[in-house]
Formats: sequence, structure tokens, C-alpha cells
Amino acid sequence: MFDEIRFNTIERLPNYVFAEINEIKLNARRSGEDIIDFSMGNPDSRTPQHIIDKLIESANKDKTHGYSASKGIYKLRLAICKWYSRKYGVDIDPDREAVATLGSKEGYVHLVQAITNPGDVAIVPDPAYPIHSHAFIIAGGNVHKMGLEWNEKYELDTKAFFKNLKKAFADSVPKPKFVVVNFPHNPTTVTVQKSFYEELVAYAKKERFYIISDIAYADLTFEGYKTPSILEISGAKDVAVESYTLSKSYSMAGWRVGFIVGNPKLIGALQKIKSWFDYGMFTPIQVASTVALDGPQECVDEIINTYQKRRDVLLESFENAGWKIDKPNASMFIWAKIPEVAMHLGSMSFAKQLLTEAKIAVSPGIGFGEGGEGYVRIALIENENRIRQAARNLKKYLKSLEKSKDA
Ligand SMILES: Cc1ncc(COP(=O)(O)O)c(C=O)c1O
Repeated sequence: MFDEIRFNTIERLPNYVFAEINEIKLNARRSGEDIIDFSMGNPDSRTPQHIIDKLIESANKDKTHGYSASKGIYKLRLAICKWYSRKYGVDIDPDREAVATLGSKEGYVHLVQAITNPGDVAIVPDPAYPIHSHAFIIAGGNVHKMGLEWNEKYELDTKAFFKNLKKAFADSVPKPKFVVVNFPHNPTTVTVQKSFYEELVAYAKKERFYIISDIAYADLTFEGYKTPSILEISGAKDVAVESYTLSKSYSMAGWRVGFIVGNPKLIGALQKIKSWFDYGMFTPIQVASTVALDGPQECVDEIINTYQKRRDVLLESFENAGWKIDKPNASMFIWAKIPEVAMHLGSMSFAKQLLTEAKIAVSPGIGFGEGGEGYVRIALIENENRIRQAARNLKKYLKSLEKSKDA
């Protein structure tokens, strides 16, 4: 009925590439198979106890059950500012330069909706966390994709980045208004140094565009690497905002808490649009998040430690199984080039075979854009024993591939 009535926004959104893998995974589980699941960046550990305790204490109060503040309660915005000051030495105004969001994804989508005019162009690296580009499609804008290059230590090739960025500016009509960056990067784990942001901020001022930086994985770093913030660059607030999430560092993914800070014009736009969309997170969640950001931080070290150990066990056991992968120094992922013997399959068929033949679920690189082809993303959300089991399954599968190649 009503075939002539079309929903343009929905039609412009692609089907979810991971849906196919998810369906095979669910069907296998329903038929009783044990699937080792490395597919989603969904932390498996429990939220630290002191944060849960604060949630319960606050929920037991009489005055915390009504509508909250859509931009976040003042106390939480203050804790966000303190977090930036402690971690990066950056001053943020809690009223004009900070918004607490229902997870950083909600904040990002609404920010993009608030600041994008129909037809506006955003430059987004490819591969990317899918919403980084699709938020602009939802908002009626367009995306100009740009390749990302890195070395064997998953460090950004900044020279190539700025060459590609300049080419994107030269090729794009109309001129791009926004550039999205996300380091440590999902899915590739690629990291940058502070000097990268110096160059990016200078270029933004020259070409007159805004930068949206996503540092969801800021804390999940290893071997002494420290994630820089774009806001550490003097004058960055003139052109940039940055988002962070409590989902990863504090294992609070289901709580839906994040924030965006920086340029007051963009933050004002986000505050305004959010005031039309929501009444803010449940107040006890905001109070507990204040304690997460401002309280003892040993829990973050424990979470980092868990991911680091899993990374090491996975790299070692997978190498023994016949799949050598470069070592990342950030995030909760491993971005793995498909082994030579399976390269001809491409990332989607390889991920499907890993699932059906080795009972291992990973995300095919193609799901993150054409630039992700040739790779799969492995999320470190299974424990060390399960990782070793995955390696045993993998060994058998890779051997069978070798055999069929020789036959
Ligand atoms: C790069 C990046 N940004 C943002 C998010 C969203 O996090 P949340 O909405 O839980 O804060 C994710 C989730 O995986 C992510 O990978």
C-alpha cells in the first residue's frame, strides 16, 4: 500500500553488513553450537562495584526519579571538565563547552544532525566505525571517504593522511565542512601523536572546517602509549569538538553514558537539539558516572590489563595456529590481515567460514567500508581460555584450507 510514499533517509542507509554474520551466529547457537564470539566491541566484564553501589544509593533517594537535564546534570558536567583537566590539562567550561550524552553514539548522531545542512559534505576515513559516516546520511548530508594508511605498528602514516585529506578537499564539491577523526581508531586500532593534531588544527583553520574527534578508546592503550586529545592543541576549541565514552574504560556499555566537549558553537547546537529530543539520562546513572570519572581509577588499569593479556594470548596462540598478526598498541581490537591461504575468499566469506568451520565469530573488514577489505576485526571480549580454544579450532581450519589448496 502507498507505494508512492518513499522514505528517502531510510533508503539512503545501507543494510547492516554485520547482520548476515549475526544471523549465522545466532542460528549456530540455537542449534547448540559453542561459538567463540569476537565480533562486537561489547565489553564482557562487569562494571566496577563502587560505580554500581553509587547507582543503587542514588536510585534509593526520593528526588532522583523525575526527568533529568538533557545536557547532563551540572555535577556530571563538572566531573567531565575535571577529567579533561586531570588527563590533558585542558580547561572546559561546564555550561558552554560540555554535554553529557546517552552514550557517545547518541551524542555524535545528534551533533551531526544539529550542524549538517542538506548537501553538506563531511570527510570520513575509510574504513570507519559505521556511524561516523552514516550519521551524515541520516542528517541529509554527503560523505567523502578518504583512505587511511598505517605502518606495521598500527601508527598513522600522517604524510599519507594529509596528502589524502588535501586531495579530498581538492576533489569535493561543495567544499567539506567537517572532518571526522577517531584515534585510537575503530576498526584498525591506528594511533596518532599530538603533532598530528597540531597539523590538523592548522589545516582546519586554513580551509575553514570543523573537526569531530572521537576518543572512545583513549584509555585502552599499552606499552606506555598515551592517547593525545585534539583539545591539547592551543586554539583547537575554535575548530574542534571531541567525544569520549564510559562504555569501554569503565565497562559501562549498557549504561549509555558518554560526553562531547569543545567548540561552544557546536556544543550549543548539540545542547539545543538534545533539549528537543530527550530529558537526559536517568539521574542515578549520571550520579554514578560522576563517581566513575572522579573516583578511584584503579579499575581502569585492571580493564586495560585484561585487554592487554588477551591481546598477547591471542597473538601468540593464533601465530602458533598459523596466523601471524601485527601487534596493536591500543583499543580492544585486533585488526588482522586475512591469512595468505584465505586471502582469495575476501573478508565476508572468510568471516563466514571462520564461523561455520572454526566456530569463531569476527567482523569482516568490508563491514567498515571498502578500505577494510582484506582484514577482519577481532574484539577481545572472550577470556584467555576461550581464546586458546579458538586457536585450536583455527589451526584445524587453516590446515584444511592448506590441504584443499594442495589438492
Ligand atoms: C569509535 C567508537 N566511537 C563510539 C562508540 C560508541 O560508544 P557508546 O555509544 O557506547 O558511547 C564506539 C562503540 O563501539 C566506537 O567504537
